[in-house]
Amino acid sequence: MAFPANRLRRLRATPAIRELVRETKLDAGDFILPLFIRPGKNLKRPIASMPGQYQLSVDEGVKLSKEAWKAGVRSIILFGIPEKKDGLARGAYAADGIVQKAASAVKSALPDMAVMADLCFCEYTDHGHCGVIKNGRVDNDDTLELAAKTAVSQAKAGADVIAPSGMMDGQVAAIRRALDGADFRDTPILAYAAKYASGFYGPFRDAAESPPQFGDRSGYQMDPANALEAMREVALDVEEGADMVMVKPALSYLDVLSKVKERWGLPTAAYSVSGEYAMIKAAAAKGWIDERRIALEVLLSIKRAGADMILTYYALDAARWLSE
Ligand code: PBG
Repeated sequence: MAFPANRLRRLRATPAIRELVRETKLDAGDFILPLFIRPGKNLKRPIASMPGQYQLSVDEGVKLSKEAWKAGVRSIILFGIPEKKDGLARGAYAADGIVQKAASAVKSALPDMAVMADLCFCEYTDHGHCGVIKNGRVDNDDTLELAAKTAVSQAKAGADVIAPSGMMDGQVAAIRRALDGADFRDTPILAYAAKYASGFYGPFRDAAESPPQFGDRSGYQMDPANALEAMREVALDVEEGADMVMVKPALSYLDVLSKVKERWGLPTAAYSVSGEYAMIKAAAAKGWIDERRIALEVLLSIKRAGADMILTYYALDAARWLSE
């Protein structure tokens, strides 16, 4: 029915009515807080391109996890900066690797926190690529063997969820098989299913000290132009046993996110990446935008597009803002 019988402004008249008809609501339980852990003690090193984010030693990581828990955040995802890098990414699957140490420390301090372990090799290889190099290229199948080992060692250390982000074909199947074989049948996999080769990862590579030393990641991460291909990526990961899937980055890929959610109806994550965070921080520092308003609007838009959970560097701030 048309105007004047219908007036949509009627339901916008007061805060109480707006609240009643609100379709999407953010909750601290939607957020997953990424943490960068490095060796040492009492370390809290600011990351220049990500104001408010730090490289943390394990003890500081536990401290921040406790603060996040208190604010209502129920999940973190761990990234590691190892002592040493080498050609085979040994730091990624060492029993006393940095992510393994952090996972076990957080789980002992906060047994109910859902601790996710990012599984990728770029932080652990001396060349900065996400796998083993053979003939000048990242070798898919050799990398799968390392992924399988890494997943088991992360699960042994206490990680509740394994999150492979290397964009190797068959990585979910390889990890599922390895976890099942090591008696971790109940450890879920959050697959970075549609991960694009994106300029938005710039600040992360400073944070994790993981830029590729030659070439770029376009040989394994997705072309930003492709949405249909994302459907194939998700389909394969689902077939291989992914329990949850992710689209990454978030803000420039909301169309992909929305299609993924609609088509599979799976628990779906979106990663609002370092560049998305840095852009808001930078504009806010100049006084050009209202940080809190924009950050919450961005998170809301990601949830509205179909995300059940959001990996975001704003997790702690947003959780606090929502409870004020
Ligand atoms: C590792 C990885 C990256 C990010 C998460 N896992 C970087 C990359 O692929 O280059 C990016 C996260 C962010 O930018 O916040 N492969």
